[in-house]
Amino acid sequence: MKVAIVGAGLIGRAWAMVFARGGWDVAVYDLVDGAADACVAECAHGLATLAEHGLCDDPEAALGRLVAVATLGEALEGAAYVQESGPERLEVKLDLFAELDRLAGADTILASSTSALQCSLFTEALPGRARCLVAHPVNPPHLAPVVELSGAPWTDEAVVAKTRAMFEALGQKPITVKKEVDGFILNRLQAALVTEAFRLVGEGYVSPEDLDKTITDGLGLRWSFIGPFQVGELNAPAGLADYIERYSPFFRRVAETSDPDAALGVDNLARCVEAWGSAPSVERVAEMSRWRDKRLAALAAHKKSQE
Ligand SMILES: NC(=O)c1ccc[n+]([C@@H]2O[C@H](COP(=O)([O-])OP(=O)(O)OC[C@H]3O[C@@H](n4cnc5c(N)ncnc54)[C@H](O)[C@@H]3O)[C@@H](O)[C@H]2O)c1
Repeated sequence: MKVAIVGAGLIGRAWAMVFARGGWDVAVYDLVDGAADACVAECAHGLATLAEHGLCDDPEAALGRLVAVATLGEALEGAAYVQESGPERLEVKLDLFAELDRLAGADTILASSTSALQCSLFTEALPGRARCLVAHPVNPPHLAPVVELSGAPWTDEAVVAKTRAMFEALGQKPITVKKEVDGFILNRLQAALVTEAFRLVGEGYVSPEDLDKTITDGLGLRWSFIGPFQVGELNAPAGLADYIERYSPFFRRVAETSDPDAALGVDNLARCVEAWGSAPSVERVAEMSRWRDKRLAALAAHKKSQE
């Protein structure tokens, strides 16, 4: 099977590794000259790191399945699936999807990595709109496997089902967003948490370092293997209904005192930036990102060993 990776930046590169590791032939295309070649070169390092953590059986073979191509047409030739990972701008997605729909074979599935643009915004006018959907990853998808699948009202359900089965076979963890919603699922959850974090730090209840610790050494530990519904089931003797009865009055009290205007107001956000204090160089951010990826790889390896 062949996949076309369209857009070879941060996310396109990670997708290329996911598909190559899973045995697919991968054609990488980018509008900018040299970007697809650079992507394939970066994948050599990424696949080797995956192999070090037991997350890729044969990095050499995976690399051998990756090829940088010079035109979109070449990328799409014979592709069963397209993972578009171009810039997050509506006009770019509109142009790219028109082009993809025009050039791709009739049965090719067209998916976008978009973080926040709903599928219906850039596929409505396309003759092949039934084969389009969003497949939104978490950065980086070769280490954090959840993928949110979100179709437009006109997306063929069979296309979503086929894409879900494909990602499962690749070892990713797809979820289906049953109807379109701004931010899909993951970023809505993240937004609720981050808004409250800004409120608590900006209004002086806790330092940003201690707030981060409540996630990394508290909630996040548990959340790496059970989500809030399962937590609810385990945190009350008679299960979820019991948990809701016990704790929902408190959740309501918190929700009623959370004022998004205050939490996300300019003054509060400025206080958060000041409290955090750090403004690392580009090099330092790159170094920290590599460190994060190693930690994620070790965690992914641990999770895999528990399956
Ligand atoms: N970075 C993240 O954390 C993250 C997470 C999930 C989803 N996404 C989404 O993934 C997509 C890509 O994000 P990214 O972070 O990789 O961006 P990026 O800027 O790193 O990469 C975008 C790439 O697209 C290329 N490009 C521009 N126009 C193109 C065109 N017409 N055809 C082909 N390639 C083109 C650029 O040259 C660049 O290499 C966006 O839609 C983004 O919202 C990003």
